Amino acid sequence: MHVAVVGTGYVGLTTGVCLAHLGHEVTCVDIDPERVAAIKRQQVPFYEPGLGEMLSTNLSNGRLKITGHIKSDPEVVFITVGTPELDGRIDLSRVEMAARQIGQRLRRDSYQVVAVKSTVVPGTTDTLVRKVLEQSSCLKAGEFGLCMNPEFLREGFAVSDFLDPDRIVIGQWDDRSGRVLAELYRTLECPKILTTLRNAEMIKYAANSLLATLISFSNEISALCEATPGTDVDVVMQGVHLDRRLSPVIDGKKVSPGVLSFLMPGCGFGGSCLPKDVNALRAFARDKGVDPALLDAVVAVNAGRPGQIVSMAESLLGTLDQAEVAVLGVAFKPGTDDTRDSPALPIIQLLAGKGARVRVYDPMVKTLPPALFEMVKICPSVDNALADADAAIVVTAWPEFLELDWADACARMRRPVIIDSRNALRRVCFPSSARYVCIGQVVPEGRV
Ligand code: UGA
Repeated sequence: MHVAVVGTGYVGLTTGVCLAHLGHEVTCVDIDPERVAAIKRQQVPFYEPGLGEMLSTNLSNGRLKITGHIKSDPEVVFITVGTPELDGRIDLSRVEMAARQIGQRLRRDSYQVVAVKSTVVPGTTDTLVRKVLEQSSCLKAGEFGLCMNPEFLREGFAVSDFLDPDRIVIGQWDDRSGRVLAELYRTLECPKILTTLRNAEMIKYAANSLLATLISFSNEISALCEATPGTDVDVVMQGVHLDRRLSPVIDGKKVSPGVLSFLMPGCGFGGSCLPKDVNALRAFARDKGVDPALLDAVVAVNAGRPGQIVSMAESLLGTLDQAEVAVLGVAFKPGTDDTRDSPALPIIQLLAGKGARVRVYDPMVKTLPPALFEMVKICPSVDNALADADAAIVVTAWPEFLELDWADACARMRRPVIIDSRNALRRVCFPSSARYVCIGQVVPEGRV
Protein backbone atom coordinates (compact mmCIF):
# COMPACT_ATOMS: atom_id res chain seq x y z
CA MET A 1 0.00 0.00 0.00
CA HIS A 2 1.06 3.64 -0.44
CA VAL A 3 1.55 5.29 2.92
CA ALA A 4 2.66 8.74 4.09
CA VAL A 5 3.90 9.38 7.62
CA VAL A 6 3.86 13.00 8.75
CA GLY A 7 6.42 13.68 11.49
CA THR A 8 9.74 11.82 11.80
CA GLY A 9 10.35 11.60 15.54
CA TYR A 10 11.10 8.16 16.93
CA VAL A 11 7.49 7.07 16.47
CA GLY A 12 7.07 8.46 12.93
CA LEU A 13 10.41 7.34 11.57
CA THR A 14 10.10 3.90 13.15
CA THR A 15 6.60 3.56 11.72
CA GLY A 16 7.74 4.63 8.24
CA VAL A 17 10.83 2.43 8.19
CA CYS A 18 9.00 -0.63 9.57
CA LEU A 19 6.07 -0.26 7.15
CA ALA A 20 8.59 -0.09 4.29
CA HIS A 21 10.26 -3.19 5.75
CA LEU A 22 6.85 -4.91 5.59
CA GLY A 23 6.70 -4.14 1.87
CA HIS A 24 4.69 -0.92 1.71
CA GLU A 25 5.66 2.14 -0.34
CA VAL A 26 6.25 4.80 2.29
CA THR A 27 6.92 8.53 2.17
CA CYS A 28 8.04 10.12 5.42
CA VAL A 29 7.30 13.84 5.65
CA ASP A 30 8.84 16.42 7.95
CA ILE A 31 8.77 20.21 7.93
CA ASP A 32 12.31 20.41 9.35
CA PRO A 33 14.66 20.59 6.32
CA GLU A 34 17.71 19.61 8.38
CA ARG A 35 15.97 16.48 9.61
CA VAL A 36 14.88 15.63 6.07
CA ALA A 37 18.46 16.12 4.83
CA ALA A 38 19.89 13.94 7.62
CA ILE A 39 17.43 11.12 6.95
CA LYS A 40 18.19 11.37 3.20
CA ARG A 41 21.84 10.83 4.14
CA GLN A 42 20.62 7.67 5.91
CA GLN A 43 21.23 9.17 9.35
CA VAL A 44 18.75 8.55 12.16
CA PRO A 45 18.52 11.90 14.03
CA PHE A 46 18.22 10.16 17.44
CA TYR A 47 19.50 6.96 19.00
CA GLU A 48 17.28 3.98 18.30
CA PRO A 49 18.99 0.58 18.05
CA GLY A 50 18.49 -1.23 14.75
CA LEU A 51 16.68 1.62 13.02
CA GLY A 52 19.72 2.93 11.10
CA GLU A 53 20.34 -0.32 9.21
CA MET A 54 16.68 -0.66 8.22
CA LEU A 55 16.55 3.00 7.19
CA SER A 56 19.54 2.53 4.85
CA THR A 57 18.11 -0.65 3.34
CA ASN A 58 14.71 0.84 2.62
CA LEU A 59 16.02 4.16 1.31
CA SER A 60 18.37 2.25 -0.98
CA ASN A 61 15.71 -0.12 -2.32
CA GLY A 62 13.39 2.85 -2.93
CA ARG A 63 10.53 1.64 -0.72
CA LEU A 64 11.10 4.57 1.63
CA LYS A 65 11.29 8.23 0.69
CA ILE A 66 11.71 11.33 2.79
CA THR A 67 10.45 14.77 1.81
CA GLY A 68 9.29 18.12 3.16
CA HIS A 69 5.76 17.95 1.71
CA ILE A 70 3.19 15.28 0.92
CA LYS A 71 3.54 14.92 -2.83
CA SER A 72 1.87 11.66 -3.86
CA ASP A 73 -1.67 10.51 -3.05
CA PRO A 74 -1.21 7.89 -0.35
CA GLU A 75 -3.94 5.44 0.65
CA VAL A 76 -3.09 5.98 4.32
CA VAL A 77 -1.60 9.09 5.93
CA PHE A 78 -0.35 8.81 9.51
CA ILE A 79 -0.10 11.81 11.79
CA THR A 80 2.93 11.12 14.01
CA VAL A 81 3.86 14.61 15.14
CA GLY A 82 4.69 15.41 18.75
CA THR A 83 2.10 16.40 21.36
CA PRO A 84 4.39 18.08 23.91
CA GLU A 85 3.25 18.97 27.39
CA LEU A 86 1.93 22.48 27.82
CA ASP A 87 0.84 23.45 31.34
CA GLY A 88 0.01 19.85 32.22
CA ARG A 89 -2.02 19.33 29.05
CA ILE A 90 -1.01 18.38 25.54
CA ASP A 91 -0.21 20.96 22.90
CA LEU A 92 -2.21 19.94 19.84
CA SER A 93 -0.90 22.68 17.53
CA ARG A 94 1.35 20.32 15.55
CA VAL A 95 -1.46 17.79 15.15
CA GLU A 96 -3.73 20.57 13.92
CA MET A 97 -1.12 21.85 11.46
CA ALA A 98 -0.44 18.35 10.13
CA ALA A 99 -4.19 17.70 9.75
CA ARG A 100 -4.57 20.98 7.81
CA GLN A 101 -1.73 20.10 5.42
CA ILE A 102 -3.11 16.61 4.91
CA GLY A 103 -6.66 17.89 4.41
CA GLN A 104 -5.52 20.25 1.65
CA ARG A 105 -4.29 17.24 -0.30
CA LEU A 106 -7.19 14.85 0.27
CA ARG A 107 -8.85 13.92 -3.01
CA ARG A 108 -12.52 13.44 -3.81
CA ASP A 109 -11.80 10.83 -6.44
CA SER A 110 -9.84 8.40 -4.24
CA TYR A 111 -10.51 7.02 -0.78
CA GLN A 112 -7.73 7.96 1.64
CA VAL A 113 -7.50 7.19 5.34
CA VAL A 114 -6.01 9.63 7.83
CA ALA A 115 -4.74 7.84 10.94
CA VAL A 116 -3.71 9.67 14.10
CA LYS A 117 -0.81 7.92 15.83
CA SER A 118 0.21 10.88 18.00
CA THR A 119 -0.98 10.45 21.58
CA VAL A 120 -4.13 12.56 21.94
CA VAL A 121 -6.80 12.71 24.63
CA PRO A 122 -10.15 11.02 23.97
CA GLY A 123 -12.31 13.06 21.64
CA THR A 124 -9.45 14.76 19.77
CA THR A 125 -9.65 12.69 16.59
CA ASP A 126 -13.41 12.87 16.09
CA THR A 127 -13.62 16.57 16.92
CA LEU A 128 -10.49 18.67 16.29
CA VAL A 129 -8.79 16.43 13.72
CA ARG A 130 -12.00 15.59 11.86
CA LYS A 131 -13.10 19.23 11.71
CA VAL A 132 -9.72 20.48 10.46
CA LEU A 133 -9.62 17.73 7.82
CA GLU A 134 -13.19 18.49 6.71
CA GLN A 135 -12.60 22.25 6.54
CA SER A 136 -9.35 22.02 4.65
CA SER A 137 -10.51 19.31 2.22
CA CYS A 138 -14.14 20.38 1.71
CA LEU A 139 -14.99 16.70 2.18
CA LYS A 140 -16.95 14.95 4.94
CA ALA A 141 -15.54 12.18 7.15
CA GLY A 142 -16.72 9.04 5.43
CA GLU A 143 -15.64 10.41 2.08
CA PHE A 144 -12.19 10.08 3.57
CA GLY A 145 -11.35 7.52 6.25
CA LEU A 146 -10.39 8.44 9.81
CA CYS A 147 -8.63 6.24 12.34
CA MET A 148 -6.82 6.53 15.65
CA ASN A 149 -4.04 4.00 15.90
CA PRO A 150 -2.02 4.47 19.08
CA GLU A 151 1.60 3.38 19.23
CA PHE A 152 3.06 1.17 21.92
CA LEU A 153 6.74 1.62 21.08
CA ARG A 154 9.28 1.72 23.86
CA GLU A 155 12.28 3.90 23.13
CA GLY A 156 15.25 1.64 22.60
CA PHE A 157 12.97 -1.22 21.46
CA ALA A 158 10.86 0.67 18.94
CA VAL A 159 11.67 -1.54 15.94
CA SER A 160 10.99 -4.86 17.68
CA ASP A 161 7.87 -3.45 19.36
CA PHE A 162 6.57 -2.38 15.95
CA LEU A 163 7.31 -5.66 14.18
CA ASP A 164 6.33 -7.93 17.07
CA PRO A 165 3.54 -6.04 18.83
CA ASP A 166 1.52 -7.16 21.84
CA ARG A 167 -1.58 -5.73 20.18
CA ILE A 168 -2.70 -3.38 17.45
CA VAL A 169 -5.47 -0.99 18.37
CA ILE A 170 -7.45 0.63 15.57
CA GLY A 171 -10.04 3.22 16.45
CA GLN A 172 -12.27 3.79 13.45
CA TRP A 173 -14.68 6.49 12.32
CA ASP A 174 -16.48 3.83 10.27
CA ASP A 175 -15.87 0.19 9.28
CA ARG A 176 -14.34 1.13 5.95
CA SER A 177 -11.61 3.25 7.59
CA GLY A 178 -10.70 0.45 10.00
CA ARG A 179 -10.62 -2.19 7.24
CA VAL A 180 -8.02 -0.20 5.29
CA LEU A 181 -5.77 0.21 8.31
CA ALA A 182 -6.16 -3.44 9.32
CA GLU A 183 -5.02 -4.40 5.80
CA LEU A 184 -1.83 -2.39 6.31
CA TYR A 185 -0.97 -4.57 9.33
CA ARG A 186 -2.23 -7.84 7.80
CA THR A 187 1.12 -9.62 8.10
CA LEU A 188 1.63 -8.78 11.79
CA GLU A 189 0.25 -11.55 13.97
CA CYS A 190 -1.16 -10.30 17.25
CA PRO A 191 -4.55 -9.48 18.75
CA LYS A 192 -6.14 -6.61 16.83
CA ILE A 193 -8.79 -4.46 18.44
CA LEU A 194 -11.07 -2.55 16.10
CA THR A 195 -13.05 -0.10 18.17
CA THR A 196 -14.22 3.49 18.48
CA LEU A 197 -11.83 6.40 18.03
CA ARG A 198 -12.25 7.39 21.67
CA ASN A 199 -11.61 3.87 23.00
CA ALA A 200 -8.37 3.79 21.02
CA GLU A 201 -7.33 7.15 22.45
CA MET A 202 -8.24 6.07 25.98
CA ILE A 203 -6.46 2.69 25.69
CA LYS A 204 -3.18 4.48 25.09
CA TYR A 205 -3.57 6.70 28.16
CA ALA A 206 -4.84 3.88 30.35
CA ALA A 207 -1.93 1.64 29.31
CA ASN A 208 0.76 4.20 30.09
CA SER A 209 -0.96 5.32 33.27
CA LEU A 210 -1.06 1.74 34.53
CA LEU A 211 2.68 1.37 33.86
CA ALA A 212 3.36 4.60 35.74
CA THR A 213 1.13 3.42 38.58
CA LEU A 214 3.02 0.13 38.89
CA ILE A 215 6.33 2.01 39.08
CA SER A 216 5.11 4.45 41.71
CA PHE A 217 3.60 1.57 43.66
CA SER A 218 6.98 -0.20 43.62
CA ASN A 219 8.73 3.00 44.64
CA GLU A 220 6.36 3.51 47.55
CA ILE A 221 7.01 -0.05 48.74
CA SER A 222 10.74 0.64 48.27
CA ALA A 223 10.55 3.74 50.48
CA LEU A 224 8.68 1.67 53.06
CA CYS A 225 11.39 -1.02 52.97
CA GLU A 226 14.04 1.70 53.33
CA ALA A 227 12.35 2.53 56.66
CA THR A 228 11.80 -1.08 57.80
CA PRO A 229 14.80 -3.06 59.09
CA GLY A 230 14.87 -6.64 57.85
CA THR A 231 13.15 -5.96 54.53
CA ASP A 232 14.57 -5.85 51.03
CA VAL A 233 12.41 -4.47 48.24
CA ASP A 234 13.91 -6.78 45.60
CA VAL A 235 12.86 -9.87 47.55
CA VAL A 236 9.50 -8.31 48.38
CA MET A 237 8.72 -7.46 44.76
CA GLN A 238 9.92 -10.90 43.65
CA GLY A 239 7.40 -12.42 46.03
CA VAL A 240 4.66 -10.09 44.79
CA HIS A 241 5.56 -10.63 41.20
CA LEU A 242 5.36 -14.42 41.22
CA ASP A 243 1.59 -14.20 41.48
CA ARG A 244 0.42 -15.78 38.23
CA ARG A 245 -1.69 -12.72 37.50
CA LEU A 246 1.48 -10.63 37.28
CA SER A 247 3.99 -12.99 35.67
CA PRO A 248 3.59 -13.60 31.97
CA VAL A 249 4.12 -17.23 30.97
CA ILE A 250 6.39 -17.47 27.94
CA ASP A 251 7.16 -20.87 26.37
CA GLY A 252 5.44 -22.53 29.31
CA LYS A 253 7.62 -20.77 31.89
CA LYS A 254 6.94 -17.80 34.11
CA VAL A 255 9.16 -14.90 33.17
CA SER A 256 11.58 -14.24 35.98
CA PRO A 257 10.63 -11.24 38.10
CA GLY A 258 11.80 -7.90 36.94
CA VAL A 259 12.61 -8.79 33.37
CA LEU A 260 9.47 -7.46 31.78
CA SER A 261 7.47 -6.08 34.64
CA PHE A 262 7.06 -2.49 35.66
CA LEU A 263 7.42 -3.45 39.30
CA MET A 264 11.07 -2.48 39.48
CA PRO A 265 11.67 0.28 41.98
CA GLY A 266 14.15 2.99 41.12
CA CYS A 267 14.57 6.74 41.22
CA GLY A 268 11.34 7.34 39.32
CA PHE A 269 9.93 7.13 35.82
CA GLY A 270 10.80 9.64 33.12
CA GLY A 271 10.87 9.91 29.36
CA SER A 272 8.76 11.52 26.73
CA CYS A 273 5.66 9.46 27.43
CA LEU A 274 4.76 8.32 30.94
CA PRO A 275 5.06 11.69 32.75
CA LYS A 276 3.33 13.62 29.97
CA ASP A 277 0.58 11.07 29.47
CA VAL A 278 -0.26 10.76 33.16
CA ASN A 279 -0.46 14.54 33.44
CA ALA A 280 -2.64 14.83 30.35
CA LEU A 281 -5.01 12.17 31.68
CA ARG A 282 -5.21 13.97 35.05
CA ALA A 283 -6.10 17.24 33.32
CA PHE A 284 -8.60 15.42 31.09
CA ALA A 285 -10.19 13.81 34.16
CA ARG A 286 -10.54 17.18 35.89
CA ASP A 287 -12.13 18.65 32.77
CA LYS A 288 -14.66 15.82 32.96
CA GLY A 289 -15.34 16.48 36.66
CA VAL A 290 -13.58 13.27 37.73
CA ASP A 291 -11.06 13.42 40.58
CA PRO A 292 -7.94 11.54 39.40
CA ALA A 293 -6.87 10.79 42.98
CA LEU A 294 -4.81 7.72 42.12
CA LEU A 295 -2.98 9.40 39.24
CA ASP A 296 -2.28 12.45 41.42
CA ALA A 297 -0.63 10.12 43.92
CA VAL A 298 1.35 8.38 41.17
CA VAL A 299 2.83 11.73 40.17
CA ALA A 300 3.46 12.80 43.77
CA VAL A 301 5.31 9.56 44.58
CA ASN A 302 7.37 9.95 41.42
CA ALA A 303 8.22 13.57 42.19
CA GLY A 304 9.41 12.61 45.68
CA ARG A 305 11.80 9.88 44.57
CA PRO A 306 14.82 11.98 43.43
CA GLY A 307 14.77 13.81 46.79
CA GLN A 308 14.87 10.49 48.65
CA ILE A 309 17.92 9.42 46.65
CA VAL A 310 19.71 12.71 47.31
CA SER A 311 18.90 12.41 51.03
CA MET A 312 20.60 9.00 51.03
CA ALA A 313 23.74 10.60 49.61
CA GLU A 314 23.54 13.42 52.13
CA SER A 315 23.20 11.14 55.13
CA LEU A 316 26.08 8.94 53.94
CA LEU A 317 28.44 11.85 53.30
CA GLY A 318 27.33 13.98 56.25
CA THR A 319 27.02 17.00 54.00
CA LEU A 320 26.80 17.50 50.28
CA ASP A 321 28.33 20.95 50.47
CA GLN A 322 31.52 20.93 48.38
CA ALA A 323 31.23 17.16 47.91
CA GLU A 324 32.32 15.83 44.51
CA VAL A 325 29.40 13.71 43.34
CA ALA A 326 29.41 11.66 40.14
CA VAL A 327 26.01 11.09 38.57
CA LEU A 328 26.24 7.98 36.41
CA GLY A 329 23.64 8.09 33.67
CA VAL A 330 21.38 10.93 32.61
CA ALA A 331 19.21 9.20 30.02
CA PHE A 332 15.79 8.37 31.45
CA LYS A 333 16.57 4.69 30.89
CA PRO A 334 19.29 2.63 29.22
CA GLY A 335 19.17 2.19 25.45
CA THR A 336 18.32 5.80 24.65
CA ASP A 337 19.95 9.24 24.58
CA ASP A 338 16.68 10.85 25.67
CA THR A 339 16.84 12.96 28.83
CA ARG A 340 13.29 14.27 28.72
CA ASP A 341 11.83 14.21 32.24
CA SER A 342 14.72 11.99 33.30
CA PRO A 343 14.93 11.61 37.10
CA ALA A 344 18.62 12.48 36.64
CA LEU A 345 17.63 16.12 36.07
CA PRO A 346 16.02 16.77 39.50
CA ILE A 347 18.73 14.67 41.15
CA ILE A 348 21.43 16.93 39.63
CA GLN A 349 19.46 20.04 40.56
CA LEU A 350 18.96 18.92 44.16
CA LEU A 351 22.62 17.95 44.55
CA ALA A 352 23.80 21.29 43.15
CA GLY A 353 21.27 23.09 45.36
CA LYS A 354 22.92 21.49 48.40
CA GLY A 355 26.34 22.70 47.31
CA ALA A 356 27.64 19.50 45.71
CA ARG A 357 30.02 19.71 42.77
CA VAL A 358 28.35 17.48 40.24
CA ARG A 359 30.03 15.62 37.42
CA VAL A 360 27.99 13.47 35.08
CA TYR A 361 28.76 10.69 32.71
CA ASP A 362 26.39 8.94 30.32
CA PRO A 363 27.52 6.70 27.48
CA MET A 364 24.97 8.24 25.09
CA VAL A 365 24.18 11.71 26.43
CA LYS A 366 26.83 14.35 25.86
CA THR A 367 24.80 17.47 26.54
CA LEU A 368 22.16 18.66 28.99
CA PRO A 369 19.35 21.22 29.03
CA PRO A 370 20.96 24.72 29.27
CA ALA A 371 19.81 25.38 32.86
CA LEU A 372 21.59 22.24 34.07
CA PHE A 373 24.58 22.47 31.77
CA GLU A 374 25.92 25.33 33.91
CA MET A 375 25.67 23.27 37.09
CA VAL A 376 27.68 20.23 36.06
CA LYS A 377 30.86 18.99 34.51
CA ILE A 378 30.20 16.53 31.71
CA CYS A 379 32.83 13.80 31.79
CA PRO A 380 34.13 11.92 28.76
CA SER A 381 34.36 8.58 30.59
CA VAL A 382 33.11 6.85 33.68
CA ASP A 383 36.70 6.68 34.99
CA ASN A 384 36.99 10.43 34.61
CA ALA A 385 33.71 10.95 36.46
CA LEU A 386 34.74 8.74 39.36
CA ALA A 387 38.30 10.05 39.83
CA ASP A 388 38.54 11.64 43.31
CA ALA A 389 34.75 11.59 43.70
CA ASP A 390 33.18 11.48 47.16
CA ALA A 391 30.20 9.52 45.93
CA ALA A 392 28.68 8.05 42.79
CA ILE A 393 24.95 7.84 42.18
CA VAL A 394 23.89 5.32 39.55
CA VAL A 395 20.82 6.85 37.91
CA THR A 396 20.59 4.96 34.61
CA ALA A 397 21.21 1.21 34.62
CA TRP A 398 23.57 1.18 31.63
CA PRO A 399 25.35 -2.20 31.22
CA GLU A 400 28.66 -0.28 31.19
CA PHE A 401 28.22 0.45 34.90
CA LEU A 402 27.58 -3.19 35.70
CA GLU A 403 30.66 -4.28 33.74
CA LEU A 404 32.98 -1.71 35.32
CA ASP A 405 36.02 -2.86 37.31
CA TRP A 406 34.64 -1.50 40.56
CA ALA A 407 37.67 -2.49 42.64
CA ASP A 408 39.79 -0.29 40.43
CA ALA A 409 37.14 2.47 40.25
CA CYS A 410 36.71 2.54 44.05
CA ALA A 411 40.48 2.82 44.50
CA ARG A 412 40.40 6.03 42.46
CA MET A 413 37.48 7.61 44.34
CA ARG A 414 38.22 9.89 47.28
CA ARG A 415 35.44 8.23 49.25
CA PRO A 416 34.11 5.06 47.59
CA VAL A 417 30.42 5.61 48.27
CA ILE A 418 28.12 4.14 45.62
CA ILE A 419 24.40 4.79 45.71
CA ASP A 420 22.58 2.50 43.32
CA SER A 421 19.22 4.11 42.65
CA ARG A 422 18.26 1.32 40.19
CA ASN A 423 19.48 -1.71 42.18
CA ALA A 424 21.49 -2.53 39.08
CA LEU A 425 24.79 -3.40 40.74
CA ARG A 426 23.62 -5.74 43.45
CA ARG A 427 25.65 -8.67 42.12
CA VAL A 428 28.87 -6.65 41.91
CA CYS A 429 31.51 -7.64 44.43
CA PHE A 430 32.68 -4.30 45.86
CA PRO A 431 35.94 -4.00 47.80
CA SER A 432 35.53 -3.94 51.58
CA SER A 433 36.62 -0.29 51.65
CA ALA A 434 33.58 0.69 49.55
CA ARG A 435 30.21 1.68 50.88
CA TYR A 436 27.63 0.33 48.44
CA VAL A 437 24.05 1.31 49.16
CA CYS A 438 21.10 0.14 47.11
CA ILE A 439 17.47 1.20 47.38
CA GLY A 440 14.68 -0.58 49.19
CA GLN A 441 16.67 -1.50 52.30
CA VAL A 442 17.49 0.35 55.47
CA VAL A 443 20.71 2.30 54.95
CA PRO A 444 23.00 1.26 57.83
CA GLU A 445 23.91 4.06 60.22
CA GLY A 446 27.23 5.83 59.96
CA ARG A 447 29.00 8.19 57.67
CA VAL A 448 31.89 7.38 55.45
C1 UGA B 1 6.60 3.91 27.42
C2 UGA B 1 5.80 2.62 27.44
O1 UGA B 1 6.51 1.59 28.12
C3 UGA B 1 5.51 2.14 26.01
O2 UGA B 1 4.67 1.00 26.05
C4 UGA B 1 4.80 3.28 25.28
O3 UGA B 1 4.50 2.92 23.95
C5 UGA B 1 5.71 4.50 25.26
O4 UGA B 1 5.95 4.90 26.62
C6 UGA B 1 4.97 5.60 24.54
O5 UGA B 1 3.94 6.07 25.02
O6 UGA B 1 5.36 5.94 23.42
P1 UGA B 1 9.19 4.53 27.15
O7 UGA B 1 8.80 5.94 27.42
O8 UGA B 1 10.11 4.24 26.04
O9 UGA B 1 7.89 3.63 26.86
O10 UGA B 1 9.87 4.01 28.48
P2 UGA B 1 9.63 2.82 29.51
O11 UGA B 1 10.41 1.66 29.11
O12 UGA B 1 8.17 2.66 29.73
O13 UGA B 1 10.28 3.45 30.84
C7 UGA B 1 9.73 4.63 31.43
C8 UGA B 1 10.42 4.96 32.71
O14 UGA B 1 10.03 4.07 33.75
C9 UGA B 1 11.94 4.90 32.66
O15 UGA B 1 12.44 6.03 33.34
C10 UGA B 1 12.28 3.62 33.40
O16 UGA B 1 13.53 3.65 34.01
C11 UGA B 1 11.17 3.57 34.44
N1 UGA B 1 10.85 2.22 34.94
C12 UGA B 1 10.37 1.27 34.10
C13 UGA B 1 11.00 1.94 36.29
O17 UGA B 1 11.42 2.81 37.09
N2 UGA B 1 10.65 0.71 36.76
C14 UGA B 1 10.16 -0.25 35.94
O18 UGA B 1 9.85 -1.37 36.44
C15 UGA B 1 10.04 0.03 34.59
